[in-house]
Amino acid sequence: MASSLFRRKTIDSILKDSQTGTGDAHAHGLKRVLTVRDLTFFGIAAIIGAGSFSSLGDAVFRGGPGVVFLFILCGIACAFTAFCYSDFASRIPVAGSAYTYAYASFGEVIAWIIGWALLMEYSIGNIYVAFSWSDYFTSLLAKMQIHIPEYLSCSYREAQQAFAGTVKSQEWVTAWNTAPQMGSLRIIFDLPAVIINILITILVYIGIRESRNFSNVMVVIKLAIVILVILVGGALVFSNDLTGNWTPVNSEGVSSFMPNGFGGVMVAVSGVFFAYIGFDAVSVLAEESKNPQRDLPRGMIWSLVICTVVYILLTLVLTGAVVYSKFEGIGDPLAFIFEKQNLNVPWMQILVAICAVIAMTSVMLVFQMGQPRIWMSMSRDGLLPPRFQTIHPKYKTPSFATIVTGLLVGVPILFTDRKFVLDFTSIGTLFAFVLVCGGVLLIPRAEKKPGRFTMPYINGKYIFPLIVASAIILVATLSKNYFNDLMNFDFSADDATFKISTLIFWIISVLLAVFAFLKNFSLIPVMGLTTCLYLLTGMSASNWKWFFIWFAIGFIVYLLYGYRKSKLALRSA
Ligand code: ALA
Repeated sequence: MASSLFRRKTIDSILKDSQTGTGDAHAHGLKRVLTVRDLTFFGIAAIIGAGSFSSLGDAVFRGGPGVVFLFILCGIACAFTAFCYSDFASRIPVAGSAYTYAYASFGEVIAWIIGWALLMEYSIGNIYVAFSWSDYFTSLLAKMQIHIPEYLSCSYREAQQAFAGTVKSQEWVTAWNTAPQMGSLRIIFDLPAVIINILITILVYIGIRESRNFSNVMVVIKLAIVILVILVGGALVFSNDLTGNWTPVNSEGVSSFMPNGFGGVMVAVSGVFFAYIGFDAVSVLAEESKNPQRDLPRGMIWSLVICTVVYILLTLVLTGAVVYSKFEGIGDPLAFIFEKQNLNVPWMQILVAICAVIAMTSVMLVFQMGQPRIWMSMSRDGLLPPRFQTIHPKYKTPSFATIVTGLLVGVPILFTDRKFVLDFTSIGTLFAFVLVCGGVLLIPRAEKKPGRFTMPYINGKYIFPLIVASAIILVATLSKNYFNDLMNFDFSADDATFKISTLIFWIISVLLAVFAFLKNFSLIPVMGLTTCLYLLTGMSASNWKWFFIWFAIGFIVYLLYGYRKSKLALRSA
């Protein structure tokens, strides 16, 4: 059984299946309409959203201006990963993203696990975006004197936690106290989040061309307004002489760019990493792009570069405009800096709120388009029921899978909360990225072909061990007790989790350095693997707990269905 769990699809058979298909997908054919510009726009549409408009506030509160370093670190990790995605995408230009790539490199069970992890990225991630969308939308309505009752604009869990006193929010307490009751059950749910999910599902169901046009318009608007925030906010930071906010005084009276140290910066990893999620969504559009081998990598890397620059500037503007410690509990940080007590630019507040609603709509759109396309690939391989491949005869979209995605996002909106879904999405996505980078190391290097992306090969034989050795020496010099401290766990689960995951990180890095030396590993994927693993050390004990539960469930589902129905199982029978 163990060997059949790791049965692999060859790249040739993946390409052949996608061309002949079992059916609907290629009998009716997805439309090949997307160009490199569309793909870059899709990337930006997926990337800039709730991460920058919402979770950035909390990140800045924890790490101060030094969160810029985390953005750079996440940007680097994502850039390495984007190269790996691009390498795979140019070899295997079919829908399915990391799932398809893992099938070719690691084998079936890991491919399934990645498909399962991508569900966290695409569907669960959209729940967070829907919540944030609702926040901005509700406050926009409030500015127009339209008031949605609190119990219809927050989640049940948040209201319950606020009432119990574990979370501070007067609004959520009001939601709990004023909600209508059915027996002992209080009717509390986020109505705008549910409605936007239904609207997006309809749009995706109707078709790719319509969605693409809609998405392109939204990206242009949101980029224009984010740039305006940077320009107006940045100019005011200098003209109001606020640059001192970049080196705030911390609780110990020390003035620093990282007032809570690097530890404080790393605590913000879920929120910051979330802001980058999305560049990989481009790769699931392989079957709808005109020249996937050339355009997919370009689209991914362009969108990543643009967003990284935007994030760094945004963080600097935010932390320059208002001292970091004032961002506690601020869910709309970009609008907050323009409030009366801060930069005092009322028209920017409204503009930012409108932009946030637009930005997050486009994020939801891209993710909701990506998920059904991954399922379509899994269904082609027999790991999901055939219905997931059904293409709508008129709209040419994966109709059944689109509806299931809508339900998967919509139903949990009723009973989860944003913190949980944010962490869950980030850990699952980072895990998928680790496997994609690792996967590239496992397959033979691609030959260079004109017009096609080939990952530049830099021999990691000496460079990577040198990087690892330098990193070890650097941390040991900067913090003499660093490695000793890692061995001393205190009683808190989070401390132990951090130390164990950091130790594992160092052990894997050293092992990778040895293998890089012995096997001449390509530097880019090995750096991608290491940087993503490092980001995983920022995850808390509860993140890991849910992560393992999720994968245990996924494994059981695989054994009950995919293992038996897989095309590879049927072929070998
Ligand atoms: N990166 C996407 C966002 O920030 C998921 O909304």
